[in-house]
Amino acid sequence: MVLDPAETKEMVARYPERRSVVLPLLWRAQERIGYISDEAIGEVAAAAGVPASEVSSVVTFYTMFRREKPPARRLQVCRSLSCAMAGADELVAALREMPGCGEKFSVETVECLAACDRAIAGIYNEGLVGPLNLAGSAKLVRDGGAAGAAAPAGSSGAGAPLEGGGRP
Ligand code: FES
Repeated sequence: MVLDPAETKEMVARYPERRSVVLPLLWRAQERIGYISDEAIGEVAAAAGVPASEVSSVVTFYTMFRREKPPARRLQVCRSLSCAMAGADELVAALREMPGCGEKFSVETVECLAACDRAIAGIYNEGLVGPLNLAGSAKLVRDGGAAGAAAPAGSSGAGAPLEGGGRP
C-alpha cells in the first residue's frame, strides 16, 4: 500500500467534488515513494472514484510526476526563458555526460519554477536551488549532500538554496 488510508480518507473529505483529490493524492504518493507506481494509480483512482486510466492520463500530462523510481539524487533544471538564456541547455547537456547519470543520479528539465531571478534555477531532490553553475551542479549530483553546500546564496552561484527553499 502506497497511501496511508486514514490520511487519504481525510484528504478526500476536503473536496466536495471527489475527483478533485486526484492531484493532491498523486503528490502524496510521490512524496512517500518517490514516483507514481501502478499501485499508487490504483489507490488514487479508488479513493477519487475515477477510472485508473483517468489517473494515469493525469500522471502522464504533468511532467512533475515520475513513473519510474528515480536515483537517490535528482536534479531538475529549469529550461524556460530566463534559465535558458543563462545556459540551462548547456548545463544539462554537460551534466548528462557525467559518469553515473541515469544510474546514480538523474538530470531532468522542467518548466519555469518561478525563481527566474536566480537563473539557472532547479530542484535538487525536493529543494529549490540556484543559481546553478556547472561546478556546483556537478558536485551536487556526484556527491550529494546539502543543496547549498557549494556556495552561499548571492554568490557567483554553485547550487545555493533559495531563501525559503521548497517548491514555489
Ligand atoms: S525561467 Fe527558470 S525559473 Fe523562471
